[in-house]
Amino acid sequence: MESEHRPSPLPVGGATRVVGIVGDPVAHSRSPRMHNAAFSALGLDWVYVPFHVPPGDLPAAVAGLKALGARGFNVTVPHKEAVVPLLDDVSPAAGAIGAVNTVVVADGRLVGHNTDGEGFSVALHGAHRFRAERSRALVLGAGGSARAVCDQLAREGIPAIRISNRTEAKARDLAAHLARHHPGCEVKVLAWSPLDHRAAINWAELIVNTTTVGLKPGDPSPINTNGISPGHIVVDLVYGPETALLRECRAVRARCLDGLPMLLHQGALAFTLWTGEAAPLEVMRAALEAP
Ligand code: ATR
Repeated sequence: MESEHRPSPLPVGGATRVVGIVGDPVAHSRSPRMHNAAFSALGLDWVYVPFHVPPGDLPAAVAGLKALGARGFNVTVPHKEAVVPLLDDVSPAAGAIGAVNTVVVADGRLVGHNTDGEGFSVALHGAHRFRAERSRALVLGAGGSARAVCDQLAREGIPAIRISNRTEAKARDLAAHLARHHPGCEVKVLAWSPLDHRAAINWAELIVNTTTVGLKPGDPSPINTNGISPGHIVVDLVYGPETALLRECRAVRARCLDGLPMLLHQGALAFTLWTGEAAPLEVMRAALEAP
């Protein structure tokens, strides 16, 4: 179990600085072990704590973290967009994305950042040969992670994206947002249906699952994988036990990537925003990969 692989953090003392992660669910998160291993490796008197916060409690939780003197926090499912109006300021990147995954508390102000897009990019380019300007992407989901992924792909010059989300209105919002910020990228919304997915699978080179389908053991693939071939790159932002989507795609020799490398790189960027120190990447990777 996880406890066997926990790093040995410095004992918590009166001057220990506190950061953490706010999400619902949050118990599956590997961010605490990743950041605590990094603090320990650098001898920093910091601790990273999980905070399970249901949606209705988000404003109170954010105000409470500030009042308690937390140095910052990560924001995950389903709060990345809802947190934005609760902050004093957002970075240009987070503003362009419309979602925040990292908050820095400094001088009594809450400043939102987004390290997901860059984390996604470093992970993808580190794993596979990918040329955005020569590719087309099918993105599943339209939450905070989808916003970061689409914004990043558009920045890298991808000419076209198809977005499909269970709640189509959210996909339309995201498409409109992208049209404002990246007019050179053609974005269309597809119905959440196997027929539309099949056509888009044939059309796209890159498929990214940003939905939470796959998080729970036994979850099916969010889409019917018929048509996926070795020519596809398939990224599932879900991490942990292999998801049905990646198992099916690996079986047909598509190039696959799970969510751990993105988790690592977005975390490394957040670590530096909080501490001002270069993140110990290998320590963090080992902490993440421990079973
Ligand atoms: P994140 O910040 O990680 O993007 P989020 O903003 O809560 O998390 O978004 C979760 C995504 O998973 C949404 O696109 C959600 O679809 P809805 O907008 O319809 O809620 C998607 N999702 C969650 N459960 C799903 C399910 N059972 N089937 C399909 N999509 C699902």
